[in-house]
Amino acid sequence: MSRITRRVVAATLAIAGLGAPALAQGTFPSRPVTMIIPFAAGGPTDTVGRLIAQAMSADLGQPVVVENVGGAGGTLGAQRTALARPDGHTVLLHHIGMATIPTLYRRLAYDAVNGFETLGLVTEVPMTLIARRNIEANSLQELVALIRQRGEGLNYANAGIGAASHLCGLLLMKAVDTRMTTVPYRGTGPAMNDLVAGTVDVMCDQTTNTTEQIRAGTVRAFAVTTPERIPALPDLPTSAQGGLPGFEVSVWHGLYAPRGTPAPIVARLNQALVKALEDPGIARRFADLGTAPVAVARATPEVHRAFWQAEIAKWRPLIQAAGQFAD
Ligand code: MLT
Repeated sequence: MSRITRRVVAATLAIAGLGAPALAQGTFPSRPVTMIIPFAAGGPTDTVGRLIAQAMSADLGQPVVVENVGGAGGTLGAQRTALARPDGHTVLLHHIGMATIPTLYRRLAYDAVNGFETLGLVTEVPMTLIARRNIEANSLQELVALIRQRGEGLNYANAGIGAASHLCGLLLMKAVDTRMTTVPYRGTGPAMNDLVAGTVDVMCDQTTNTTEQIRAGTVRAFAVTTPERIPALPDLPTSAQGGLPGFEVSVWHGLYAPRGTPAPIVARLNQALVKALEDPGIARRFADLGTAPVAVARATPEVHRAFWQAEIAKWRPLIQAAGQFAD
């Protein structure tokens, strides 16, 4: 092949979008993979992501490097991923926000529904209702009474509109029919620091961020937002047992790549994810933090996509009825 012919072939492949991905498939991953966490370091998404990233690194033979891209309720990290080169070297670990953001945010610089390939579900995590440890309430009923009495005089910490802590706060304020003052952070990692320091009052957050603080007594816990108590925190009543039936929410996480990532690379990333979920060390650590890896049958791109789309459809009317939008 002459040099000119080679150039014409390369240009044609590039225009058809075939050249680089075809090469990448042969050697994938050819360099470290970036796992974007759309919230601050030290929070629950970060905790789950770092455990999974470490196990995936071992299987992929390349480091999976966590990058925290927090802010705007998880949309900045999602945007960075959606707009990244679709060659498998950028993935996103995100949660239930992927299902609420398409309705909450009416103006985004990326396609929040069609901008991603799904790589598999990762976990389902209970949430816990907690407060600074010297809050003037000793039970869920007393906390509800305090919220009704103090209203916007109490600060509710969350990780921005679209965060799980935002969603849980909305459901709580609806259940007690009273608003608190919302204080947004780039993630509930930094929010937890302020809750422990006592500079904010109340938060609802995933057990992956709260279990150790609850056990250490640095925050006061009032309820777990699942139908059953959880083994990691057996003394903590459910919200129904505490007197708030219907105040239930759990958070799911999934792994994504930019739309257009070639199918063989999606399959390779899924394989590494499944390996991570089967790792007994991960299962033990997750159990200690009140969660578990999803069953392997749910960690497929197809099940993940179907579940995600069903969740978008489930949350859309609820958000529209609440009239709560980010813009
Ligand atoms: C959330 O509230 O969505 C999460 O806790 C955010 C985070 O991982 O920090």
